[in-house]
Amino acid sequence: MHYAEHAYGFYDVEAIRRKRIYKEINHAGEGGLWAELVSNRGFEAGGPHVPSNIYPWSIIGDNLSILVSTDRTSCFKRNKVALRMEVLCNGPQSCPPGGVGVSNPGFWGMNIEKGNKYKVIFYVKAIGAVDLEISFVGSNDSEKVASTSVRAFGLNVPTWRKMETIVEAQATNHYSSLRITTTRRGIVWLDQVSAMPSDTYKGHGFRNDLFQMLAKLKPTFLRFPGGCFVEGNYLRNAFRWKDTVGAWEERPGHFGDVWNYWTDDGFGYYEGLQLAEDLGALPVWVFNNGISLHGEVNTSAISPFVQEALDGIEFARGSSTSKWGSLRAIMGHHEPFDLRYVAVGNEECSKFNYQGNYLKFYDAIKHAYPDIQIISNCDGSVKPLNHPADLYDFHTYKNSMDMFALHTKFDKAPRSGPKAFVSEYAAWKKDAGNGTLLAAVAEAAFLIGLERNSDIVHMVCYAPLFVNTNDRKWIPDAIVFDSYQNYGTPSYWLQQLFSESSGATLLKSTLNTSSNSIVASAIEYENSENEKSYLRIKVVNFGSYSENLRISLEGLQSKLQQYGSTKIVLTSPNVMDENSFSSPNKIVPQQTSLENASEDMNVVLPPHSVTSFDLLR
Ligand code: AHR
Repeated sequence: MHYAEHAYGFYDVEAIRRKRIYKEINHAGEGGLWAELVSNRGFEAGGPHVPSNIYPWSIIGDNLSILVSTDRTSCFKRNKVALRMEVLCNGPQSCPPGGVGVSNPGFWGMNIEKGNKYKVIFYVKAIGAVDLEISFVGSNDSEKVASTSVRAFGLNVPTWRKMETIVEAQATNHYSSLRITTTRRGIVWLDQVSAMPSDTYKGHGFRNDLFQMLAKLKPTFLRFPGGCFVEGNYLRNAFRWKDTVGAWEERPGHFGDVWNYWTDDGFGYYEGLQLAEDLGALPVWVFNNGISLHGEVNTSAISPFVQEALDGIEFARGSSTSKWGSLRAIMGHHEPFDLRYVAVGNEECSKFNYQGNYLKFYDAIKHAYPDIQIISNCDGSVKPLNHPADLYDFHTYKNSMDMFALHTKFDKAPRSGPKAFVSEYAAWKKDAGNGTLLAAVAEAAFLIGLERNSDIVHMVCYAPLFVNTNDRKWIPDAIVFDSYQNYGTPSYWLQQLFSESSGATLLKSTLNTSSNSIVASAIEYENSENEKSYLRIKVVNFGSYSENLRISLEGLQSKLQQYGSTKIVLTSPNVMDENSFSSPNKIVPQQTSLENASEDMNVVLPPHSVTSFDLLR
């Protein structure tokens, strides 16, 4: 192998942007990154109908002690369903032990930790006095980990009233439920019940441990909110941004029919923009373009959707006195968000109305916001697009062998026209398991191919990012979690080896080898922590045997430093090895110092490995 220190002519400081895609799938946000503990907090999961689907709430008590139903008496216009509890028993002697009421298990258990505080908010209306106990209990119902009482003695509560209380946990149970109980006869209505841990990231509602996992990847953009979540099987179930902004209590929520679960939409459009900002990343907003998986709006009728997209951009970027910008300001973000990229849909290029609709969006957005970069769903990697775009989406999910072979995919892609946005990629199916080493090594080769073609590949992100282990709708994923713990798959750790690629300079390199299992690239980058300049040579060995390689550097203006170079290797004895909750670090990058770093050195590449040589200039 031979590296010469020259930037490609067409290439300067902007190497490939390496980003993350957050998509609502696998309970990534709802029951994941979004720290809300209550599932179906407004009892709306059945939609606007009554009786509604109150799952996963359950009733505490029997027919002789409590009757529970839903009606449409909520004080919130967009979500009228409320829970009605008619308490028939009266007093601790007549009611079952612990009282009667309702219980919510959250998303496969709520993580309640000793000493932590939880803010519980709910809306209540009653005939009679309100006398409720709010408690978190362990999987064994009698194990109370936290509780408080909410009382309004002697008062009738004929109109809705907001109740707010802080509960401090006295014990830890990662799989708790929230119970709202009473022993007082009367009729009580409940609505919009929320329980939030008080230690979310910056108080913005993001679960801290999952936020930190994301932040460690140093994302420079965040594509959200999906995925097919944006499309819906049917348009009525698509993600429509206006239903996800404003006060959380007033959001109607919706049933994500592609991945088959209800979302209260606490993690809405605003929160996606906020998440990107908190990560120091640019938001890439994917909006619905009038097309779902099983239904389309004709181009002749698309203008309301175009207006919806324009309004969404105004919400993000407009001044705080504009119609939609003012709502953003009321929600807490006075200054505009830095929205520069929008995608017209997710994966709809082949749909009958896509191109017609696309042009309507393109013209309207460019007219109002000429600087916004518009992403088309049509693949321009084989031949140039027949319509204007700043970027085109490229999605690929392949078995590991085919993913490895894709390292040459962009070598012959058109050099003119829009650049590629590899907005979803991952090795999957049998040999990728739930996230194997083999999958990560194959992806490394693909990423190196993108890096080498970064004159035309502008951005790339792995997908999906998160999976709640209790709802594995799509595997593999980068970050696996349950109510309280998480780990990164090898694909997650692999991405860390590429986190310095954004803004780096690609160096000219040649690889002379008879092996067709080796792929390599070289970049120069400045380490943001120590502000020193490094050459990073990444080499993938996809084969089952170790390989010896000689690395020669030419054209260095100064010698390598004697100390400070390192080698990072991602590998494991078995290609099908995976990380897990019990062995989260089985396959993680192993860093050692490179004592013999020089302009000419012999190295050994373990079988099925990714090695990064970081040479200090
Ligand atoms: O990433 C999983 C799914 O794959 C996405 O929702 C969709 O965009 C793609 O087909």
